Amino acid sequence: MKKTYKQAGLLALSVLLAGCVTGPSPQDVTEATQKVLKSSFRDQGIAKTAWLQQDASNQACSQAQGAPLDEKLAQSIEQANLQTVKMPSDGKFIGDWREGEKIAQNGRGMTWSDPPGSANGGSCYNCHQISKEELSFGSIGPSLYHYGKLRGVADPADAASKPIVDYTWRKLWNAKAYNACSGMPRFGHAGILNETQLRHVMALLLDPSSPVNK
Ligand code: HEC
Repeated sequence: MKKTYKQAGLLALSVLLAGCVTGPSPQDVTEATQKVLKSSFRDQGIAKTAWLQQDASNQACSQAQGAPLDEKLAQSIEQANLQTVKMPSDGKFIGDWREGEKIAQNGRGMTWSDPPGSANGGSCYNCHQISKEELSFGSIGPSLYHYGKLRGVADPADAASKPIVDYTWRKLWNAKAYNACSGMPRFGHAGILNETQLRHVMALLLDPSSPVNK
């Protein structure tokens, strides 16, 4: 009896070990995941299955599965994403921080029940601390409290502030321009926020009168 148990145990162990050797490859897992995604979603309202299609940057980061990318590949992804950035058409970067706060608070949008053409939120607080008054925030991204102040922005229109103003606009437009596998939504590039909304969010971060910089 005892021996049979031992043999069964050994058999289970060898099956397990064989499983480790012949188990699914990362490629198999990726393909299976794609299949599940494709069969679980359908076009409905404004929500489209085309949104599941990854661009080359997303593909490279998915394939790396969290491991750092080869430096040259990362640089070429950042360069390609930087080239997608559209600077504001009228040269104005700063809107109204009050509107920016509303956008940062708002996590709505891009679901099948949203009417076509409705404005999306930015969900910024889901990942960032921003103003001190809002106590409910995520910590996936760094704190943006005192964003402009810490970077010495006395007036965003000053020539001295230009580099940080330009950087912030580009980062918001396409976060992958500076971090190939950034987990931050590409707000301008993906059409989540429009130019006017981006100006308001910029004001929230950079306007000295915004509560973020108090
Ligand atoms: C899903 C999470 C997520 C959301 C939503 C998100 N971010 Fe981020 N953000 C990050 C992460 C992670 C980083 C740091 C890594 C990186 O740079 O990509 C970051 C970095 C940044 C930076 C650069 C900070 C620096 O010191 O250079 C800025 C500015 C920023 N986010 C602003 C925003 C704003 C404004 C919004 C809303 C419109 C927003 N983020 C929404 C995750 C997010």
